[in-house]
Amino acid sequence: MTDGTTAGAQGPRAGDGPRGWRAAAGTALYGPGGFYRRPEGPAGHFRTSVHASPLFAGAVARLLCRVDEALGRPPVLDFVDMGAGRGELVAGVLAALPAEVAARARGYAVEIAHRPARTDGRITWLSEPPEAVTGLLFANEWLDNVPVDVAEVDSAGVPRLVLVADDGSERLGAPVDGADADWLARWWPLPAEEGLRAEIGLPRDRAWADAVATVARGLAVAVDYAHTLDTRPPFGTLTGFREGRETAPVPDGSCDITAHVALDACAAAGAPHGLAEPGPGGPQSPREPRSDTEAARGLPAARLLTQRDALRALEITGARPPLALASTDPAAYVRALAGAGEAAELTAPGGLGDFGWLLQPVGVPDPLA
Ligand SMILES: C[S@@+](CC[C@H](N)C(=O)[O-])C[C@H]1O[C@@H](n2cnc3c(N)ncnc32)[C@H](O)[C@@H]1O
Repeated sequence: MTDGTTAGAQGPRAGDGPRGWRAAAGTALYGPGGFYRRPEGPAGHFRTSVHASPLFAGAVARLLCRVDEALGRPPVLDFVDMGAGRGELVAGVLAALPAEVAARARGYAVEIAHRPARTDGRITWLSEPPEAVTGLLFANEWLDNVPVDVAEVDSAGVPRLVLVADDGSERLGAPVDGADADWLARWWPLPAEEGLRAEIGLPRDRAWADAVATVARGLAVAVDYAHTLDTRPPFGTLTGFREGRETAPVPDGSCDITAHVALDACAAAGAPHGLAEPGPGGPQSPREPRSDTEAARGLPAARLLTQRDALRALEITGARPPLALASTDPAAYVRALAGAGEAAELTAPGGLGDFGWLLQPVGVPDPLA
């Protein structure tokens, strides 16, 4: 469905000349022996909200319950974890659902890597999202791993494709043209200043639009490091992660290769009416419906909010327990204090709390409104 899968089929390219970051990262992450096919999984190298606290799965379970209500409690309720890692979130969500909802819920992990041996038997493991989802499709830190090309402005002020060798060394290639140039002009205009860089988010827009298209009724949510038109970083954000540390991105399969997501562009690609309100970075441009078919699907406008606001709306506050509890029920106080610490991490300014949540309702009102 995305570059990840396509590039993975190409196999290793060591020894070939430099190529764009999109092809290089596609092979390094998803090719045979690629970073995301290794046994330790994402949790072996970095911490997402899913690993930070079970409170996150609890909040997503509450969101699924709200979607369930908006759908009128259908006989079968789908939860699709897109880019599921080792299936930790879908397992946590199924475990956190009230019994009546759990009895109707079907959990899917959509993941390029194979199903881990000890996965909960209730989880269906797929390499592509199921068709006609009725429920919630949730993508936590998926889009930042959909490989993208990088553009850099040369000494004449022209944006050129950055080519990279297997050791991570770079040189400039041809001027960016075609759909990539159109995307840059619309979503990440580069001033004619040598050295400025941008990640060309078109493959992510397409991946998100494809994911939204699998939802027949319900909600699609993408959660990620995000920027918007007025907060684009001047030199991009391409980076690597290995064993818990940020590192130089080297496309040899030894590290994660990631870049923050232009979530406003994804929103416009996934919805006919663009964004409903200003996102975390400020006002967004509205857009016209892409097609009559999309408008006919009844897709309301998408919405961007911070993880802090989304989790508050899902009853995670990070508030400390009242001190009086320490004397009446010390064990409950300690538990509540630990929960408050985890909630604070999930909502922290400068950290996970600043992540963007892109909400795309399909045929239902926005369940977080
Ligand atoms: C950063 S990890 C996030 C894992 C998990 N969602 C979490 O939050 O802990 C991104 C995951 O997306 C998976 N992935 C990337 N592209 C994919 C695709 N097209 N289909 C399925 N999984 C994909 C990767 O293999 C990787 O496990």
